[in-house]
Amino acid sequence: MEIRYELTKNPKQKPADESKLGFAKQFSDHMFVMDYTEGEGWHDARIVPYQSFSIDPATVVLHYAQEIFEGLKAYRTADNKIQLFRPECNGARMNDSADRLCIPNIPVEDFVQAVKALVEVDKDWVPHIDGSSYYIRPFIFANDVGLGVHASKHYIFCIIGAPSGAYYAEGIDPVRIYVEDDYIRAAPGLTGFTKCGGNYAASIKAGEMAERQGYAQVLWLDGVEKKYVEEVGSMNIMFKIDGKIYTAACTGTVLPGVTRRSIIELCRDWGYEVIEGKLAIADVMKAAQEGKLEEVWGTGTAAVVSPVKELKWKDQVAYISDGKIGALTQKLYDTLTGIQWGKLPDEKGWITPVCEG
Ligand code: COI
Repeated sequence: MEIRYELTKNPKQKPADESKLGFAKQFSDHMFVMDYTEGEGWHDARIVPYQSFSIDPATVVLHYAQEIFEGLKAYRTADNKIQLFRPECNGARMNDSADRLCIPNIPVEDFVQAVKALVEVDKDWVPHIDGSSYYIRPFIFANDVGLGVHASKHYIFCIIGAPSGAYYAEGIDPVRIYVEDDYIRAAPGLTGFTKCGGNYAASIKAGEMAERQGYAQVLWLDGVEKKYVEEVGSMNIMFKIDGKIYTAACTGTVLPGVTRRSIIELCRDWGYEVIEGKLAIADVMKAAQEGKLEEVWGTGTAAVVSPVKELKWKDQVAYISDGKIGALTQKLYDTLTGIQWGKLPDEKGWITPVCEG
């Protein structure tokens, strides 16, 4: 893919204090953009200064949410190299989302090339301090003008990026999670396995209600019986019960997280039995009562590995690991971030180098 470059003449002020970045609040100098026109395919790949889009009020995405996105990060290593973590998995997942939303695919190698091009041009925006990274947000939206409900014939693929710290205000400190038993996030046949904006829009109300009660996020149950654990607002979730690890299977209603599959691989390498399947919330609470719920953690690009210290379901509360991060959660966090920031060898071939920093 040929990429045209138009670099900014007015670079922005970079964040003065990298310890106060928060999550994706300020965006870097450039963005990658590419257009799709039916009959012509994807064309006009370009890196341009970060800027607003001019959108007709009748643009399809504004009305019918034909939109998908991804999330990945660029890391600066101690020897000042910039690298990505499994970007090809994000490219492949974006195409799975695209298929479900009737959006044209982008070849995975073009996706990775586009991400690398943006990261390289804005490499000075990749933060330096421990635990911080450059969060990358690729997205595609339907750009036809008109109010008929059809697949669009025009799309825009864009990638933006933001120097970021931890997703949760708690950082690596354990979070409290509210188990949602009224609203649902996904059901068989719907879009639960995709990263489409609509999934997140529909989740905001429950998230807001949980936040008002002091919970970081909600844990969604399956949309049919409201019985089995699925995922948390911005991450997959795993439970260590009596030595075994349980997480929901990716059978259409759960996001197939890149961090999720990496963590499962690490756990299996270390000899843990990992069960991907149905886990009833009632059994989680029972395990907690019996002292068998040893650890709970979430996994996600933004969330990394986030320990959970409390689960509230109806009138029951499970307290986990005495409110502290569990030993396995800590080891997973250290190993994953060690690989991502280049402190540990990349024995699994998960790292894609981008450039010198
Ligand atoms: C990510 O982890 O990259 C995500 O996309 C989650 C997001 C909703 C913050």
